[in-house]
Amino acid sequence: MDTSLPLESPSLSRRQFLNFLTGATVAVTAGATLYPAGKFFIAPGEKTGEGGAILAKDILGNQIPASQILAEAPGTRALVAGLAGEPTYLIVKEDNTLDHIGLVDNCTHLGCTFPWNPLDQQFQCPCHGSRYAPDGSVVRGPAPLPLKIVQVAVFNNSILISPWTETDPRTGKNPWWV
Ligand code: FES
Repeated sequence: MDTSLPLESPSLSRRQFLNFLTGATVAVTAGATLYPAGKFFIAPGEKTGEGGAILAKDILGNQIPASQILAEAPGTRALVAGLAGEPTYLIVKEDNTLDHIGLVDNCTHLGCTFPWNPLDQQFQCPCHGSRYAPDGSVVRGPAPLPLKIVQVAVFNNSILISPWTETDPRTGKNPWWV
């Protein structure tokens, strides 16, 4: 059996890739805005900017303009390719700006991807039932930790995603991923 990745992607394991597709499918049915719905591609050797920032990308590795995400309804969780190819939720706020915090779509239990459930206002992992609040805090286990967060900024209609290395605003402690 061929177990190779369908795309060359040094930053993405086969499991992550399959999890990503699974989560993507569920997210579509949940009505979430989804950009990388079919394939996932991060250009090898992508350069990072100041503070390790990268540009948010779509399924083809193309830069996503901020205006495209902000055209969605307030409350939308838009899934994009973020740091090291990690699927990352961007949040459209009520004032039609992007939240400065993004959430990495990677369950802290065993790494599944998950959809946003707008009715329950939760991220709900389909693998073992973990649930997360809108800010990524654990509402129900077995997930042991809050979701990893990243910095999100808009500059000249580009979306910059960079590592979150400050205090975790949900716990008041150092981030568990640093
Ligand atoms: Fe999400 Fe187990 S991987 S609950």
